[in-house]
Amino acid sequence: MHDQLGRSGDVPRPKGSAVKNNDIDLGTELMRVDDTDLTVRPITIGDAERLARLFTRLSPASVHFRFFSPIVRPPRAALLRLADVDHERRDALVALDGDEIVAVARYDGRAGSRQAEIAITVEDAWQHRGVGKRLARRLATLATGRGYETFVATVLPDNRAALGLVRKLVPDATVRFAGGEYQADMPLVRAS
Ligand SMILES: CC(C)(COP(=O)(O)OP(=O)(O)OC[C@H]1O[C@@H](n2cnc3c(N)ncnc32)[C@H](O)[C@@H]1OP(=O)(O)O)[C@@H](O)C(=O)NCCC(=O)NCCS
Repeated sequence: MHDQLGRSGDVPRPKGSAVKNNDIDLGTELMRVDDTDLTVRPITIGDAERLARLFTRLSPASVHFRFFSPIVRPPRAALLRLADVDHERRDALVALDGDEIVAVARYDGRAGSRQAEIAITVEDAWQHRGVGKRLARRLATLATGRGYETFVATVLPDNRAALGLVRKLVPDATVRFAGGEYQADMPLVRAS
């Protein structure tokens, strides 16, 4: 997964856009899922321990699909890195059931371009209930307001749920198979 960030200001904004980071609502929203209200908010550095606990509740298959390797316990530095975003070039939304994170959707902007890589994790018990789709849509709105035009995702070949989610979000997304992985390009203007 892309993890290096360029200098601030590398991402060109759309002409005429006056959107600044501070203009975007970074507040808390509710997401009704069946009979539960999840809280959706931007990630904060204080979420590192919650991410660690979420990790322990993920199946090996979900860990493999998200991180492309069989991680048993992510190092603390990696968790801090995941929780430490600038809410502009890198950002993540978390969905919480009570005080526990059950889903994370993040983007990581590519320096000097309007593309951002995305990665989504939904706790197994919450999968296939619309959480990933709705969180991704909110993330797309956030990213579009910051000048990003395309989400890019790398998906393992047997990850049918992620490929289905790509198609659900952007029906005419470009999906190529290269090097044993799918690369999906999702123009955000066409996100539904
Ligand atoms: C991939 C993942 C993020 C999808 O999140 P989710 O909350 O389970 O997905 P949703 O319920 O929002 O489903 C969205 C769409 O994806 C597709 N989808 C979901 N699960 C699917 C499955 N098992 N098979 C095929 N398509 C599936 C469907 O098109 C679905 O839309 P629909 O319910 O209207 O038919 C989630 O399964 C997950 O976290 N998996 C493990 C980590 C991972 O693979 N991350 C992605 C790496 S980039």
